[in-house]
Amino acid sequence: MKLFLDTANVAQVAEVARWGVLDGVTTNPSLVAKEGKDFKAVVLEMCQHVPCVSAQVTAPDVEGMKRQGEEYASWHKHVVVKVPMTVGGLEVVKYLSGKKIKTNVTLVFSVAQAILAAKAGATIISPFVGRLDDIGEDGMGLIKEIMEVWQHSKFATEVLVASTRHPRHIVDAGKLGAHICTIPYEVFVKLPKHTLTDNGYKKFQEDWGKVKK
Ligand code: G3P
Repeated sequence: MKLFLDTANVAQVAEVARWGVLDGVTTNPSLVAKEGKDFKAVVLEMCQHVPCVSAQVTAPDVEGMKRQGEEYASWHKHVVVKVPMTVGGLEVVKYLSGKKIKTNVTLVFSVAQAILAAKAGATIISPFVGRLDDIGEDGMGLIKEIMEVWQHSKFATEVLVASTRHPRHIVDAGKLGAHICTIPYEVFVKLPKHTLTDNGYKKFQEDWGKVKK
């Protein structure tokens, strides 16, 4: 299972990359806007830290998205072009996959959308679990259904669990066999923590101080 950071903050990427556990980064227009930095510069800096950086196209039409996608892909070999799950987006994914450009289809909220994106040639699909939970639906239930379909259909497309809100989402995604989880920084830093580890570490350090050396 691969772990991505869901951020446009380069310092956060550099920090977690140092732990040796980070496989990629997903950005989106909202995350990029929050940082207030130049988009291309941010993407290129992130590409120095991880082998997979999703950069989202924002053009309102198919031709514009195709052009943006080709441009982003030309920036660095680590760039994966993120495309919205619309009918036009599917056309863009098909076009880019024909050019061997990797894509990540975002805003996936149903199994039918997941199947269409995979058939169009998406490298990755991103179902959003947290936003489904937010409206009283079952985000992880969607992942379960998608993974069932994937077992039968043998799609090469990787399933990336997005919009994660807490550590349990990551554990559940792993148990269901999802290929990737993207995680906000605030959730990622909770993953190594356990009270018993902290207490145990403190006691070992104290007792080591009592040892004759
Ligand atoms: O980057 C896509 C997704 O992970 C966004 O999550 O928290 O805005 O629902 P969120």
